[in-house]
Amino acid sequence: MSLVTTTEMFKKAYDGGYAVGAFNVNNMEIVQGITEAAGELKSPVILQVSKGARAYANHTYLVKLVEAAVEENPEIPIALHLDHGDTFELCKSCIDGGFTSVMIDASSKSFEDNIALTKQVVEYAHANGVVVEAELGTLAGIEDEVVVEAGKESYTRPEEVEEFVDKTGCDSLAIAIGTSHGAYKFTADQCTRNADGILVPPPLRFDVLEECIKRLPGFPIVLHGSSSVPQEFVKMVNEHGGKMPDAVGIPEEQLRQAAKLAVCKINIDSDIRLAMTGNIRKYFDEHPDHFDPRQYLKPARQAVKDMVAHKIKYVLGSDGKA
Ligand code: G3H
Ligand code: 13P
Ligand code: ZN
Repeated sequence: MSLVTTTEMFKKAYDGGYAVGAFNVNNMEIVQGITEAAGELKSPVILQVSKGARAYANHTYLVKLVEAAVEENPEIPIALHLDHGDTFELCKSCIDGGFTSVMIDASSKSFEDNIALTKQVVEYAHANGVVVEAELGTLAGIEDEVVVEAGKESYTRPEEVEEFVDKTGCDSLAIAIGTSHGAYKFTADQCTRNADGILVPPPLRFDVLEECIKRLPGFPIVLHGSSSVPQEFVKMVNEHGGKMPDAVGIPEEQLRQAAKLAVCKINIDSDIRLAMTGNIRKYFDEHPDHFDPRQYLKPARQAVKDMVAHKIKYVLGSDGKA
């Protein structure tokens, strides 16, 4: 199988009540960890590349790594997606350069300007067989190098979604219902604490999601900022020289619930970073004399694989859906 768009993936996910994981890739170990898990579990998967990933690893290297993963895992559909494209030129460069899906994120612009830029990208993408994700509403955290403080985010306004999708022709829509980017998704003030002192975040706005679904029946919805920030990795980081107090993510049960509804794509990046960093810190702590990168990147890659396998089985529900 060669790289695919997300059209068929999303149709099957919508009808089947599951979501496809969209995992950010920045290097070979991350690509391998994700696709080995998806391959073994016969799950579709989306590998996504941010502007920052392209700046770090170079477009060609990332595309070739993903092509290698496609060759190694011929039985599963794999899409290559631009995450948070912020200009027409960036989207065009990825469309011309082998991506099968792009996101144009003009969510920080006015409604009218968001429509105009999204439409421009959709026209070029569709003419080239590529699909487009757009966004309405703003998440807290860092998006497009725009920093939105927790508590200052704006939820998607359901009354705007139909007009937006009609006028732009986008293929999927990212909405803001209380998720946010990064490993600190909520301030301590926004949460309560459980008996172990761990922060418990406020629930996602399922009412906003349900309203959007009513107005866009059959249309694939995307959730960004959907890392769960597993406390086992936070603990690992903190026990081995790191400092990540009060890191908190989205509870897995809520993501599972969203995946059963119209949410067809769930974005995960921070959990990959945590899995790798926790394990590398632990390795360094336990083996201060080792200096071969393969020694510490191996458990880091394995941790990514195990984490992704867990998401596929227990959060996304996409195992066996390839
Ligand atoms: O949405 C943000 C993603 O986690 C990508 O992050 O821009 O640092 O690569 P990045
Ligand atoms: P997390 O920071 O929750 O992993 O979100 C990643 C994301 O939305 C990428 O677009
Ligand atoms: Zn995002």
